[in-house]
Amino acid sequence: MIGSHEELGPANPIGAALDAGGSGITRRASGSRSIARMVEPHPLSGRALEDRRIIHPEQTDRAQVDAFREIRTRLLALGGEGNFVTMVAPISPMSGGSFVARNLAAAFAFDEAKTALLIDCNLRNPSQHAALGVDAASSGLIDYLEHPQLGIEKILHHTGIPRLRLIPNGRKREMSGEYFSSFGMRTLMDSLRTRYADRYIFLDGPAVKGSPDARILSELADFVVLVTGSGRDSPSLIRKHAADFDPRKLAGIVVNQLP
Ligand SMILES: Nc1ncnc2c1ncn2[C@@H]1O[C@H](COP(=O)(O)OP(=O)(O)OP(=O)(O)O)[C@@H](O)[C@H]1O
Ligand SMILES: [Mg+2]
Repeated sequence: MIGSHEELGPANPIGAALDAGGSGITRRASGSRSIARMVEPHPLSGRALEDRRIIHPEQTDRAQVDAFREIRTRLLALGGEGNFVTMVAPISPMSGGSFVARNLAAAFAFDEAKTALLIDCNLRNPSQHAALGVDAASSGLIDYLEHPQLGIEKILHHTGIPRLRLIPNGRKREMSGEYFSSFGMRTLMDSLRTRYADRYIFLDGPAVKGSPDARILSELADFVVLVTGSGRDSPSLIRKHAADFDPRKLAGIVVNQLP
């Protein structure tokens, strides 16, 4: 189960940051629509998705589906027309940041007029390839950044979820978040966002606590969604880390009920 930022109480500064978020998007995507090209060769059954803890439209646990739909609606309201890039990051490690990023991307893909692209940007602990059953051995984000001649199509993987693609992190190496401010990464993001106007991009980021990487990654996003494990981070710690981000980008804080 997840809850929204409002559980932190209406008087906290994060609520104020939410209102400012709407002005954050200046670049709009243009270009053709991608839907026709997004044929899913091996769609997963509802049962298989539930086993993987991925939401789907026919799911019987409506509370979880509705919670992700609500976050989607909030982001779409902030974003206005056109697509946008959202970074999702946990405040403390293992709080469910990747779980929220994956399911939020799936919620955007419910809509037949939209596509979603999830990019695993957790350099130290990439997890989306395993969660989505994608073989990321040599065709992920880092492989592309090191060898752009690989081509973007090679790193866009099907997930078994209609209209949702994954760019896994790729071959694991020791590297720092400075990679995210590289020219290659910015060029890749620009081409991913402008190629298809209906493509919503989700960056699965590393924990905010203890490393500047999530803040560096947020430079590439229009919106930031932080995730806190219920009862894990104190309100003052949440406020301190929320303040690390551009208030115009901070769309909210998800309170995740870890199993
Ligand atoms: N609400 C939830 N319901 C069910 N399982 C969950 C939930 N939240 C997290 N999990 C599971 O808990 C584990 C840790 O979650 P996840 O990998 O999303 O955390 P994270 O914050 O991304 O961690 P990291 O710091 O490694 O990036 C995963 O196995 C995930 O599937
Ligand atoms: Mg993660």
